[in-house]
Amino acid sequence: METHELLDRLALLYPDNDLLRDLRRAFVDDDRNSLHRIIRSINDTELTNSIRLLDNDMSFVTDSLSRGQIKSKMWIINELKKLNLDLGTVFLCAGWYGILATLIFENNLKVNKIRSFDIDKSVLDIAERFNKKWVQDDWKFKPATYDIHKIDYTGFAYDVSRSNGEIVELYDSPDTVINTSCEHIFDFDEWYLKIPKGKLLILQSNDFFEGTGHVNCCEVLEDFEEQTPFEDTLYSGTLDLKMYTRFMRIGYK
Ligand SMILES: C[S@@+](CC[C@H](N)C(=O)[O-])C[C@H]1O[C@@H](n2cnc3c(N)ncnc32)[C@H](O)[C@@H]1O
Repeated sequence: METHELLDRLALLYPDNDLLRDLRRAFVDDDRNSLHRIIRSINDTELTNSIRLLDNDMSFVTDSLSRGQIKSKMWIINELKKLNLDLGTVFLCAGWYGILATLIFENNLKVNKIRSFDIDKSVLDIAERFNKKWVQDDWKFKPATYDIHKIDYTGFAYDVSRSNGEIVELYDSPDTVINTSCEHIFDFDEWYLKIPKGKLLILQSNDFFEGTGHVNCCEVLEDFEEQTPFEDTLYSGTLDLKMYTRFMRIGYK
């Protein structure tokens, strides 16, 4: 019996079973709403909201939810869980849609608040939507449009918008600086010099030289280690993603 026939018969046999009905619709009728209901019934997380957003918003760059991107982010989460660090106030540099922030919150890592800075103003609304729950929770998450070269990492006054458009100035001093976009950063060495000694750093780069906007790739982990010297290294490793290798470093500068 073909899969669609089996699902059809099961839906007929158990008409009150919503999951079977949705499974049949998702598979046989290619109905995305049914698929979303199934995902929600399994686990209604902010990331599943992101997947729904992906379906509705064409301006969204789907690569942010590619297998490689998700695996890379989960790699951070798993290593941070092992290290059991308190991240305190986080500056998420070149934070894109803030998906890493979503995962940090959802995985209950110790964190006070996350500020995501990206030079591209088109990512701001999406970052807010992905992290709506934590924006609404006393601005535990807030994105802002800034060039990360222009940030003072000892303490930084920056503007954010309220939902009514009103601009508010905030001031924060980060305990942790995260940059998973190191391969995208022009004049990376100059940016690195701006980070004060003693800050906790979580950095990722890769060897995918052909990638769009990849101006600062590394051939091997040792090159990335040379680019980002630490006083105290907590983790330094590689993740094979078939098409390319990602590098990660966690430690105190
Ligand atoms: C493609 S995305 C992120 C890719 C990365 N692998 C990740 O998952 O985090 C790269 C981001 O870096 C941002 N970016 C590049 N240069 C920047 C800069 N100088 N300041 C702030 N954001 C920057 C871009 O706007 C973009 O949102």
